[in-house]
Amino acid sequence: MFETIEAAPRDAILGLTAAFREDSRNEKTNLSVGVYQDETGKTPTLECVRAAEQRLAEAPSVKSYLPIPGAPEYAEVVQQQLALGADHEAVTSGRIASAHTPGGTGALRVAGDFINANFPKATLWMSEPTWPNHGNIFDAARVPTKGYAYFDKSSNALDFEPMLEAIQKMPAGDVILLHGCCHNPTGIDPTLEQWKQIADAVYGQGLLPLLDFAYQGFAEGIEEDAAGLREFCRPGAELMVCSSFSKNFGLYRERVGALSIVCPVADVVGAIQSQVNRVIRSNYSNPPAHGAAIVNCILRDESLRTTWEKEVATMRSRINGTRQQFVDALASKNVPGDYSFITQQRGMFSFTGLTKDQVETLREKYAIYIVGSGRINVAGLTPANIERVAEAIGEVVG
Ligand code: LMR
Repeated sequence: MFETIEAAPRDAILGLTAAFREDSRNEKTNLSVGVYQDETGKTPTLECVRAAEQRLAEAPSVKSYLPIPGAPEYAEVVQQQLALGADHEAVTSGRIASAHTPGGTGALRVAGDFINANFPKATLWMSEPTWPNHGNIFDAARVPTKGYAYFDKSSNALDFEPMLEAIQKMPAGDVILLHGCCHNPTGIDPTLEQWKQIADAVYGQGLLPLLDFAYQGFAEGIEEDAAGLREFCRPGAELMVCSSFSKNFGLYRERVGALSIVCPVADVVGAIQSQVNRVIRSNYSNPPAHGAAIVNCILRDESLRTTWEKEVATMRSRINGTRQQFVDALASKNVPGDYSFITQQRGMFSFTGLTKDQVETLREKYAIYIVGSGRINVAGLTPANIERVAEAIGEVVG
């Protein structure tokens, strides 16, 4: 039976990292996958994470199963301290169903399965462009997808009016996927005023918002980056939030994320939670404990939380500083074009405008790996490689 099966296409992002590992050239640079690197090119384990792991190692060990949606104390800190704030009405009135999921991808897949099971007629609308895995996840969950205008290539800015017009044409009962902050891949987010208008349009149209919230802390700050999401969390409003702690806690391989479903009233939470649990039980049964235990330990300890906030600020400021250095390096190599827009983009990525062919040449000729959409992981640029990358870009666009 297996002999008739053809190979699947390579993953648009992780497939590149696999190819990078196999590349035997000495001088090679991976700017594809969104993983933070410090100025030496290393992905550090955060100090707060090491300290939390030390404490966990000293605590009595428990290895029996967690509940299907994970540890309740983890759900509580995620809702209270990260996404919404402890005093938020949705938190204090108890109208949120939650689950600890294996990463943000796990949260999106649980959300997709939940949508398919409970709203089988709904279409999910995704920004154009979006993270390539969004399409894979919702296809796998058998949720039909369509695209909406988001990015204006000519101005490197949000295509705001067309986006609003597209929302105003979406059928009631559909789901709209939005990026809570640090839009992946464009790095272009709405302003707070635009978020308000988007939320008005989404709710006015009777849509269910689903926010992918994977980069909290990488744009302006942990609190500041939740402002768009909080705009959706209006009294009585429904929304779904998929959080990832891969980037902001540097816990990539621990697979730690969360799905939060904000219900209109607390009475509904029991039924919604039971549907979420059902999806999880038939998928991975219950989550792995370690990553969530780390996040829980850090967020509940004042000193570890302070260390964490500082470490997130360090990552953020290195990326923002690198944006300017990259623009300067491109200018110093006389690369044609104005790249100053790169300093306006937010989060880990820069959407450079490089074409598919240029991206391919960078890989083939210079062993520089970037995503086919022209997305560069700015955190992969270091003092050791930035000049060479700028020079190579100059050669492919020149
Ligand atoms: C990315 O966009 O590079 C990250 O979210 C990692 C991934 O899983 O694709």
